[in-house]
Amino acid sequence: MERPHELPPAAPAADEAAPRAAATGTLYGVGMGPGDPDYLTVRAVRVLERAHHLVHFCKAGRRGNARTIADAVVRDAGREWALPYPLTTELPPDDPAYVAALAAFYDDAASRLADALGAGRDVAILSEGDPFFYGSFMHLWRRLKDRFPVEVVPGVTGMSGCWTRAGTPITWGDDVLTVLPATLPRARLVAHLRAADAAVVMKLGRHLPKVRAALAEAGLLARAVYVERGTMAGEVVAALADKPDDGAPYFSMVLVPGEGRRP
Ligand SMILES: C[S@@+](CC[C@H](N)C(=O)[O-])C[C@H]1O[C@@H](n2cnc3c(N)ncnc32)[C@H](O)[C@@H]1O
Repeated sequence: MERPHELPPAAPAADEAAPRAAATGTLYGVGMGPGDPDYLTVRAVRVLERAHHLVHFCKAGRRGNARTIADAVVRDAGREWALPYPLTTELPPDDPAYVAALAAFYDDAASRLADALGAGRDVAILSEGDPFFYGSFMHLWRRLKDRFPVEVVPGVTGMSGCWTRAGTPITWGDDVLTVLPATLPRARLVAHLRAADAAVVMKLGRHLPKVRAALAEAGLLARAVYVERGTMAGEVVAALADKPDDGAPYFSMVLVPGEGRRP
């Protein structure tokens, strides 16, 4: 008979060679997909149903989006564990104070998760999209992967959800796809965009005016599609050239579809 928290045989773990002590829990990085819970994978649902602890990152006082997606599966709040970031947009990401505060935050979180894992508890970190694609999960994974068994459950990425909802294929034939964080300086954005066949610009937020200008300079503004909250409630899809304002929430991106070979 299956024990209540026993998980079915795992997909090959990222770190299969690591020795597994009998009493040790597994660290799961669970890809939650782009927003619509219908895009959760079967494996993600299995892990969410059975892990002892469900951990999500959030802004202080707010519920994380990954946790909201889990509402479709998780009925009991007793397993939840919120990890509020000490700061989000208050300082630039390359400010030493920002780096130090986040490092301390991840160190502390990893040490608390290590206590649970060491006590034989399975811990699932809920990650928007795919855990290994710009995911905060990676910072905990890096700190814990050599001490505990790990399984990463891949997820449908946000960009995949966005180009699907925008109804536009992103790459054709030999198109090269360039993925850019909007946090880059304008000159680097322009250089990458000029060399790109197709592009995705993520982490827009307050950087949208800079991204718009970089796209114009690279001659790509007319092809750019703006997607906000793709597959979630409140989704917006528009040609960027038609977007009258420069407001963009955290969950937004710009797509530049490729124009490659179409036999
Ligand atoms: C830290 S990255 C995390 C990416 C995530 N791990 C993934 O696989 O998509 C956060 C950025 O992803 C983008 N993003 C993720 N999901 C999105 C969605 N459903 N709609 C629009 N943008 C999204 C936004 O640009 C956001 O700023």
